[in-house]
Amino acid sequence: MNTTALHQFGASLLQSHNIDTENKDKQFAVRFFNQLDTIEELFNYIYGDHPSRNQSFDALLTSLIRTYQTRSTTLLKKDLEKEKKGNWFLSNQITGMSLYVDRFAGSLKGLAEKLDYFNELGVNFLHLMPVFESPAGESDGGYAVSNFRKVDERFGSNKDLDQLIQKMNKADMYLMLDIVLNHTSHHHEWAQKARAGDAYYQDFFYFYDNRDIPNQLDQTMPEIFPESSPGSFTYIPECNKWVMTVFHNYQWDLNYTNPAVFVAMLENVLHYANLGVDILRIDAPAFIWKQVGTTCQNLPQAHVLLRLIKQCVLVASPGMALLGEAIVAPDEIIKYFGTDNYVAKECDVAYNATQMALQWDALATGDTRVMLSAQHPIMQKPYGCTWISYTRCHDDIGLGYDDYMIERAGFNPYQHRTYLKNYFAGWHEGSVAAGALFSVNPKTNDARISGSLASLCGLEKAIEWNNETETENALRKIILMQAHSMFMGGIPMLFYGDELAYTNDYSYLQDPGKSYDNRWMHRPIMNWERNERRNIEGSFEARIFNETKKLIRTRNTLPIISDLKNTTWMTPHNIHVAGFLRSYENKKLYCLFNYKSTASFVTWFAFKEHGERPVKLKDHWTGEIFNVGNDNEYFVLPGYSFAILESIDK
Ligand code: GLC
Repeated sequence: MNTTALHQFGASLLQSHNIDTENKDKQFAVRFFNQLDTIEELFNYIYGDHPSRNQSFDALLTSLIRTYQTRSTTLLKKDLEKEKKGNWFLSNQITGMSLYVDRFAGSLKGLAEKLDYFNELGVNFLHLMPVFESPAGESDGGYAVSNFRKVDERFGSNKDLDQLIQKMNKADMYLMLDIVLNHTSHHHEWAQKARAGDAYYQDFFYFYDNRDIPNQLDQTMPEIFPESSPGSFTYIPECNKWVMTVFHNYQWDLNYTNPAVFVAMLENVLHYANLGVDILRIDAPAFIWKQVGTTCQNLPQAHVLLRLIKQCVLVASPGMALLGEAIVAPDEIIKYFGTDNYVAKECDVAYNATQMALQWDALATGDTRVMLSAQHPIMQKPYGCTWISYTRCHDDIGLGYDDYMIERAGFNPYQHRTYLKNYFAGWHEGSVAAGALFSVNPKTNDARISGSLASLCGLEKAIEWNNETETENALRKIILMQAHSMFMGGIPMLFYGDELAYTNDYSYLQDPGKSYDNRWMHRPIMNWERNERRNIEGSFEARIFNETKKLIRTRNTLPIISDLKNTTWMTPHNIHVAGFLRSYENKKLYCLFNYKSTASFVTWFAFKEHGERPVKLKDHWTGEIFNVGNDNEYFVLPGYSFAILESIDK
């Protein structure tokens, strides 16, 4: 369609839905016409030649209008407030926590009763792990969704979710929910119809009559869960066909070459927007496009689809930001913020999975050189977008950075990765970590790491050994890791239980629906009686809780920590210390982290390499004030400690 025809078509659609383009709905109409050309261009790029292109495009635009028309006045008001603030999610005043509703608080109602706890800690943003219907025993922690609109009875009802959201809103809290875009559960209505032979719904998935194409794809597609769910295809005897199942065999991949799938899933995205989601976590977006001869990850079409979703959200629910959960190589992660004409116009947020893994690397080796060598792609993040900054989440830790980054730091990549895996699995002599290898691929020797923050930092073994020095080291490591990710830039996302140093929970081994997946060892069930220990002076729970709380408070008082693309790495004068400078206007904040168990020395010259030389520095963590010394003198960081030093010269 040419522009005039497209705009005429758009205008008639708005009219037929009684949109008042001149007055009441003017702002919406402006957004609609501003994005219309881009939406059409992106849509045509993927679906231009599809026989149902027109019908689907019409349905897509109609869903934007309907979303706007049914958006509550509270959310319309919030959209305006966020627009005034600009990129609200760059702020230093947001701290998140990711949690399983049932394991954290029993139910949605239970969670609504726990808002004071978050307030006590300083958390004002919640990521609820998937709450929509998912078959028990075949749920992948809720990432196998059988109904995108119905809250699973395990957690409560749709009404309970609404009430929780309202309560969070009143408490000025932000919410993140997932849209599991890449697949559905095999119990989803679409999958069941497809299984029963309905050709319309078989086209919602990737169905094959024989193994020809699956065999071709298998040659280049990496396996995601090689131990528990090897291969990427599952035979469905009822219809004598193969279906694509990249993750578990009960998670069927959606076929995004079919525009009806795209529109149906976009409608789910917009449905979540109208529930009141502030950041929508798009699960596994790297996988949404498949092509023979490729890894079927990070393909250009996947980016086009994400951009299309972004443009649609901008029109219908502009207050909702998008997070792309792409846990891929560093050069690929960065592309989810958009490239070329779409820089900062794709996902607003992504996980800084590279930095997270690099911190674990530094903790195991006591050496920060790999971390530094891997920063180049991370630092390319465009202004206006941000990271989720984290040390642990519900998933495993993948050592996903590139081999060349390890080589440049002077190590052999194979040996280096082997060391890290052995260290965290607790096999290496002298290792205090109590983790486990996840998804070991016997063909490639690849593996990721499971384990809770506290257990990986050594607390589990230290307690078992009744070893005071190791306990102290573990507690210091926990806070060092949290501090680093909190001051790095981005929205800190704590994982529930870590604020109280929960160690691994091995009860998953008794549950056949979970025992095949050791990620459950770091997904604890909160024990609220035990959580009271945070009030017992001298307990390690109190120490970790109070220090986590102090980190959040400290961060909240420092606007310089907002993600304003204002981070510069300091020269690595000491390989055990990671240091970066956050600067804003004439303010400077030097953040240093010692990954060695004993004291590290940093020449005062390190502080003089960035413009005006500071004379006095105040550590926001300890409150201490330092006079900057001569170049041949040192700033001393005790073992596993950090400093947040602000230049306080007038
Ligand atoms: C994401 C989730 C992970 C899940 C996978 C499949 O990576 O974080 O837990 O297994 O997607 O949905």
